[in-house]
Amino acid sequence: MDVVIAGGHGQIAMRLERLLADGGHRARGLIRKPEQVSDLTALGAEAVACDLEGSDDVASAVAGADAVVFAAGAGPGSGAERKRTMDYGGAVKLIEAARATGVHRYLIVSSIGAHDPGGASGPMGPYLQAKHDADVAVEQSGLDYTIVRPGSLTDDPGTGLVTATTSMGGRGPVPRDDVAATLFAALQIDNTIGKTFELFAGETPIEEALRAL
Ligand SMILES: NC(=O)c1ccc[n+]([C@@H]2O[C@H](COP(=O)([O-])OP(=O)(O)OC[C@H]3O[C@@H](n4cnc5c(N)ncnc54)[C@H](OP(=O)(O)O)[C@@H]3O)[C@@H](O)[C@H]2O)c1
Repeated sequence: MDVVIAGGHGQIAMRLERLLADGGHRARGLIRKPEQVSDLTALGAEAVACDLEGSDDVASAVAGADAVVFAAGAGPGSGAERKRTMDYGGAVKLIEAARATGVHRYLIVSSIGAHDPGGASGPMGPYLQAKHDADVAVEQSGLDYTIVRPGSLTDDPGTGLVTATTSMGGRGPVPRDDVAATLFAALQIDNTIGKTFELFAGETPIEEALRAL
């Protein structure tokens, strides 16, 4: 596989890039800071300069890929404006680039709560509204999409065991390792196409959980 990951220096993204490279696949990470190139190279991935909030040509960055993964995010310190330009706008730019270049497969790291942004208070409101709107755009894109809505991300070691459910409204932690492993598996399991699911630490092996969706 040839996979382009937006937010290529992100914590989940780099875990996914390592899995892809170790599996003999091509991983291209979109980054915006030159000093991050060596971190991706060390994983066996390629770094491609592409700021999803700037005027960079996203289409040329994704051309030829088998799949794109949106794993970028403005981050917890950012304000409501960057939730719109990054978490929503960046996801839409990646959709447009995929469609323009004939890349059919699109995975997005969304979030629990994105199904009901009105239920959030404080800074979570604009964040979940942006995630919700990005997910709707992905669902309506015509692409072969998978929307992964993880619970609270942790840096605990992955277990390979998860709960994946299309019922919305759950809560709980999930290691970034297992989110990356789930994305890696979903890229290879067509049953995940057209699915939106929440993801938590659980008891079921990842592949089994995805095939049961
Ligand atoms: N924290 C949680 O509990 C939680 C729960 C559910 C879902 N999520 C979602 O999961 C996502 C991935 O998590 P993570 O921990 O891997 O995130 P992360 O480490 O913060 O990575 C986000 C990446 O997005 C990049 N980015 C920001 N603005 C960009 C732009 N304009 N163009 C291109 N790339 C840009 C950042 O690059 P720079 O280094 O250049 O800033 C960074 O590499 C989060 O963004 C969040 O939406 C989080």
